[in-house]
Amino acid sequence: MPSARRGPVAVAFDFAIDPDVTQARTLPSAFYLDPAVHALTRERVFARTWQWLGDLGDVAVPGSLSPRAMLPGHLDEPLLLARDGGGELRCLSNVCTHRGNLLVAGPCRAEQIRCSYHSRRFDLAGRMTFMPGFEQAKGFPGPSDHLPRVPFAAFAGQGFASLDPAAPFDAFFADLRSRLAWLPFDALRHDPARDRDFEVAAHWALYVENYLEGLHIPFLHPALNQVLDMERYSYHLGRYDSLQLALARDGDAAFALPPGSPDHGQRVAAYYWWVFPNLMLNFYPWGLSLNLVQPLAPDRTRVSFRGYVRSADLVASGAGAALDQVEQEDEAAVEAVQRGLRSRLYDRGRYSPSHERGVHHFHRLLCEFLAAPATTFPAGECSTSS
Ligand code: FES
Ligand SMILES: [Fe+2]
Repeated sequence: MPSARRGPVAVAFDFAIDPDVTQARTLPSAFYLDPAVHALTRERVFARTWQWLGDLGDVAVPGSLSPRAMLPGHLDEPLLLARDGGGELRCLSNVCTHRGNLLVAGPCRAEQIRCSYHSRRFDLAGRMTFMPGFEQAKGFPGPSDHLPRVPFAAFAGQGFASLDPAAPFDAFFADLRSRLAWLPFDALRHDPARDRDFEVAAHWALYVENYLEGLHIPFLHPALNQVLDMERYSYHLGRYDSLQLALARDGDAAFALPPGSPDHGQRVAAYYWWVFPNLMLNFYPWGLSLNLVQPLAPDRTRVSFRGYVRSADLVASGAGAALDQVEQEDEAAVEAVQRGLRSRLYDRGRYSPSHERGVHHFHRLLCEFLAAPATTFPAGECSTSS
């Protein structure tokens, strides 16, 4: 499957992170400031991971079409969700294979896909079925005249696709699925009143790093600190994901966990689940706050919050209340870091071995993806920094 704008990117990625968190140094400032690294990240990280395409409410019935832009402002890949008459849901390219016109402009019901430019037609599986004026064309239609199909997965009513996946969907999501197998995902209902879009004047990775550590919670979020038991806050690293397990202080809102849950017996206030590179799934007793981090420029990021509620009576309590205030406190911090990184007197820092393992894990993954395939580091390895 072709990745977006693939081609030689004129930068050699030679950053490295020591695998030992107790002596490693963080990514150098150049990672965040260099536009060439930003472009390389688009191709090697974002085009090779699973990107959220939104929920699947408008493609529930056979014969539905819904265009989706993959990571607008960065990958900008025009895709099309199509559920055929037999009920099979596919993710196709939304670009006509003739001269590149965009095919479907908005969600609709249809028996076929017809290009408005010269009337090429496709069935809902993406096969080209009709094209006027091509009677004398040789070897037509060929495989490249059908719409490319993009690897796609549906989970918890949400759609995900990857242009050139580095690993299958399950490698990114299996930990979450297994630990939260008891959770009735079908009961989650989108609540547009909880949706927010923020623009942050900072590199996208700074926003992610801030999310991945609880070290700052007592200092930056005094109200949140009141409801979490920071003594027992814990980090669980997976291959392409990580979980921060936040326990509630006595008397504050917690999940009613069934005996089948591995966390049964604990008072869990929130599961903060991150999936590499830019998706956060925050599960609270009231439901799910999904956060998508979207790079716009090396120093500009859009963060979209989408709320899915299952227990409306719990939305005002515990760690999942007052999300807007926590967001503002986080934004102010990462924007200040962005300004600090321009300093000639700062390049790299160190990690807290007890609280910043998640950040270290994220940096190691970035290093792994950016290094492959064209540098001296083998995939999966980041050599010790010099
Ligand atoms: S661009 Fe679609 S038919 Fe010509
Ligand atoms: Fe925070």
